[in-house]
Amino acid sequence: MMYTEKVIEEFTNPQNVGELTDADGVGEAGSPTCGDTMKIYLKVEGDRIADARFRTFGCAAAIASSSMATRMILGMTLAEAWNLSDADVVDALGGLPEPKVHCSLLARDAIRAAIADYRVRRGLEPQERGSCECGGVGGCGSCPGND
Ligand code: FES
Repeated sequence: MMYTEKVIEEFTNPQNVGELTDADGVGEAGSPTCGDTMKIYLKVEGDRIADARFRTFGCAAAIASSSMATRMILGMTLAEAWNLSDADVVDALGGLPEPKVHCSLLARDAIRAAIADYRVRRGLEPQERGSCECGGVGGCGSCPGND
């Protein structure tokens, strides 16, 4: 499988590149397989993501994934953003070649790390990555006391 037109579009004209100096949460993820790293900056208003930026040191698929993921989480609640899966990002890109699917995981992991950072800054319990459906931001009901 070659890169889809959407991947090429997101890679050649990535959205939301950069940093937020007044970010409410910052998260970083790295891939042990390829050495790529991704950093996500979030601005949160209420419980929704008002702004998102990224810095990615990685391949075309990693950059396309971060661009797409930051666009997708804009306006989402923190719980919705936590639940954004790598498959959601891959689908939105129209697919990725199999050896490149792991690149989309970086976006999901960096978003979760940024949400966890936001929670720590707010004095809330940091949510372990992947340990709950709502990311500890409330709503799933399986971890009372977190919200
Ligand atoms: S599992 Fe949802 S608040 Fe923890």
